[in-house]
Amino acid sequence: MPSQSSLFFYDINTVLEDTRNEVTLGLQRPQKMISPKFFYDEMGSELFMEITRQPEYYLTRTEISLLREYADEMADLMGENCLLIEYGSGSSEKIRILLESLRPRAYAPLDISKEYLGAAAGALASEFPWLEVHATCLDFTEDFELPFTMDARRVAFFPGSSIGNFGRIEARAFLGRAQRLVGDEGGMLVGVDLKKDIAVLNAAYNDSNGITEKFNLHVLTHLNEKFDADFDLKNFAHSAVFEPEKGCVAMYLTSLQEQKVQIADTSISFKAGEKIHTENSHKYTKEEFLYMALDAGFTQYHFWTDNNNRFGIFYLT
Ligand code: AVJ
Repeated sequence: MPSQSSLFFYDINTVLEDTRNEVTLGLQRPQKMISPKFFYDEMGSELFMEITRQPEYYLTRTEISLLREYADEMADLMGENCLLIEYGSGSSEKIRILLESLRPRAYAPLDISKEYLGAAAGALASEFPWLEVHATCLDFTEDFELPFTMDARRVAFFPGSSIGNFGRIEARAFLGRAQRLVGDEGGMLVGVDLKKDIAVLNAAYNDSNGITEKFNLHVLTHLNEKFDADFDLKNFAHSAVFEPEKGCVAMYLTSLQEQKVQIADTSISFKAGEKIHTENSHKYTKEEFLYMALDAGFTQYHFWTDNNNRFGIFYLT
């Protein structure tokens, strides 16, 4: 019997009108943009899971092997009985690797995708009956406090190189907020995709099965459904390319023709060839990332990487 009593759910996500406003404002900028957080409705979260299984997408596989290999060492550093907070928990797949070694007092997954989070947190709570789960639907790109209190040392977990979605300045600010959230006794385990051969990076965001393309285009379906928009997916094309001067893979949707798109009361015009920027995935060297983390207020670190130096995991305190 799954234990129901160990699962708590909170929804403190932004209200619909504010979010719609954010989307239309982004599409009215000179460089049209949609924040990557809008990829993650239920279907988008599933498509991302499918990306992680593509042969070209080395990130997830590499990070999971590192977590498996060093779970005990990481758990020792993180310390038992902590309140373990995960940013963008998605399927909560990676945390399973650490749970038995870590034995946290409670697990607090945070995610923007409400249905997906509910299902993932429910599954986890029944799989680990000893674990108290406090799931919160929120937008962690904004400042927030946890919607519950618990007298425990806090440790944050932010895997997957999702921190790469922030620009450098935003990433530094985010790390500062995370440091304040966990406090001076706390810590943060964070996964970072490292700079490497450009061909490897470009392939990871242009998989031959076209799943990344589907994922990128799906953001338009999400806007159609949630914000009453009328994007025609046939009229847009996926692209993703590493931009060395910015240090990130930048992803776009290009309008294939001149067209108008309606979002609720707002009409957006596109020229043929005009691009919507949908995501930046920043890549860092170990030193670049450390510099940012120390600047944000962390003072100590541990670092793990694979033999090919593809992916890095930091434990920051
Ligand atoms: C979930 C943000 C880490 O940037 O690699 C995958 C999302 N975008 N393929 C990444 C993504 C295109 C992913 N993160």
